[in-house]
Amino acid sequence: MRLWLLSILLIPSVISAAEPTAAERGKKALLETSFIPPAWRQPAFDSVWKRWDGVKEKPVDYAAALRDRYGLHVAPYKNDDLPMGLRKASFLFVQGVSIDCMLCHGSSIMGKSYVGLGNSSLEIQSLFEEMSGADGRPPRTPFVFGNVRGTSEAGGMAVYLLGFRNPDLSLIRPRKELGLHDDLCEDVPPWWHLKKKKTMYHTGGADARSVRSKMQFMMTPITTRQEFEKHEAAFRDIDAYLKTIEAPKYPFAIDQTLASTGAKLFATNCVSCHGTYGENSTYPNKIVPLDEIGTDPKRYEGITPTFADYYNQSWFAKEQDGWFSSGYQALPSRGYQAPPLDGIWATAPYFHNGSVPTVYHVLNSKKRPTMLTRSFKTDEADYDKVKLGWKYRELEDGPAVEIKPIERRKIYDTRLPGRGNGGHTFGDHLTEEERMAVIEYLKTL
Ligand code: HEC
Ligand code: HEC
Repeated sequence: MRLWLLSILLIPSVISAAEPTAAERGKKALLETSFIPPAWRQPAFDSVWKRWDGVKEKPVDYAAALRDRYGLHVAPYKNDDLPMGLRKASFLFVQGVSIDCMLCHGSSIMGKSYVGLGNSSLEIQSLFEEMSGADGRPPRTPFVFGNVRGTSEAGGMAVYLLGFRNPDLSLIRPRKELGLHDDLCEDVPPWWHLKKKKTMYHTGGADARSVRSKMQFMMTPITTRQEFEKHEAAFRDIDAYLKTIEAPKYPFAIDQTLASTGAKLFATNCVSCHGTYGENSTYPNKIVPLDEIGTDPKRYEGITPTFADYYNQSWFAKEQDGWFSSGYQALPSRGYQAPPLDGIWATAPYFHNGSVPTVYHVLNSKKRPTMLTRSFKTDEADYDKVKLGWKYRELEDGPAVEIKPIERRKIYDTRLPGRGNGGHTFGDHLTEEERMAVIEYLKTL
């Protein structure tokens, strides 16, 4: 009798607790689904260390050694002992490892991993070359996937992969040339800004509501149109989840008096582009023309109208989201979007190409290092609490010619294509005291 009563009382609450929200479903789909077939077979993953220079036997802590080599981070969710960004996958009878969104959109700071923090440690070029080599395939990529560590050519990947598709996503050969450039050196924006944005990507080139735009990464030649359609509902949920992610709080002490001085300076110098924060926050979603912002033009120029026109004819742009929507077309842009600055302390290096190591250098264009390297680790020892960003070492001379490519990619040379560190001179007129006050304020966002 008692049990019977209990079960009646329990059933309604069990039912309501079992009804997940779209964001909860999205989180689960993002962290548990492998949307694409394995990129490499399992033995490649187990033996890739044989391709690491000077390594004679399998490292004892293989997981840590692998994270270190490729700039990956511990997964803060269940992932079969793989780091964030790699995932177990199978295709027909082949077991292997594939990549997922968190390869670029998952990182760590102060010893803690976050889904949605852009991965500024990633060594994507070696990951693909060495894993493919270990899998018995040619150890080269069809174009450059990463010119410099911590950045990738994600835009180039979209241009390259769409070239294999008809507008209805059926495959075509030979590949259509849609203006592939692989010198964009893209830094990854954090996902916690997405909820504020009307347009997304560095140039504001897409409607932030577009779900299909976020599926472009699934365009491996094995993925069929049916699979895109099958996963569209999951991506709608993923989109809802991405828009719930919050920026991590600055974990160290903040001088509140100095920060309130900084807040006033921010209001007069920065709000018009970057918006206001705290209660009743505003975000103007401003795209600043290239000649006014003056940062490196390669990303702006590198994804061409040829690609945009073709994208607009394709399945990706024909999303039906409500009665009046005829899809989300690629949007023309005149420059770069001024991003929200929530959690800015955690997202060094800065600008769309990651060319500037700290917020201090964003606000003082004359002091920016021309050639630099850093640890690519993300612990307290690697972090500069004064300048807000990564500690770095400035280099005088270029690397010796015989240096291995993986070592050369650790050097950010701002004189090379796509890597310019000029522009955004809006903090130059501040005195050093004022600049430090603005930085103190930015820690509160
Ligand atoms: C190879 C690295 C890489 C992978 C994998 C990747 N992204 Fe990205 N993502 C980027 C880069 C780089 C940008 C910035 C692109 C630009 O504008 O140049 C970006 C931009 C975005 C943005 C826009 C953010 C903003 O604020 O403008 C969203 C949303 C996004 N990615 C979602 C995803 C999802 C979902 C996946 C997985 C299905 C994914 N990405 C996989 C590198 C990657
Ligand atoms: C005229 C508009 C404008 C003004 C004024 C402006 N910014 Fe920006 N800011 C931008 C744009 C656009 C970018 C992105 C540039 C790029 O990535 O190439 C940017 C980038 C930044 C970044 C790097 C963001 C990131 O995630 O990489 C920081 C930090 C920043 N601004 C802080 C400030 C501060 C502080 C002020 C005031 C002293 C200020 N900005 C004034 C337009 C502006």
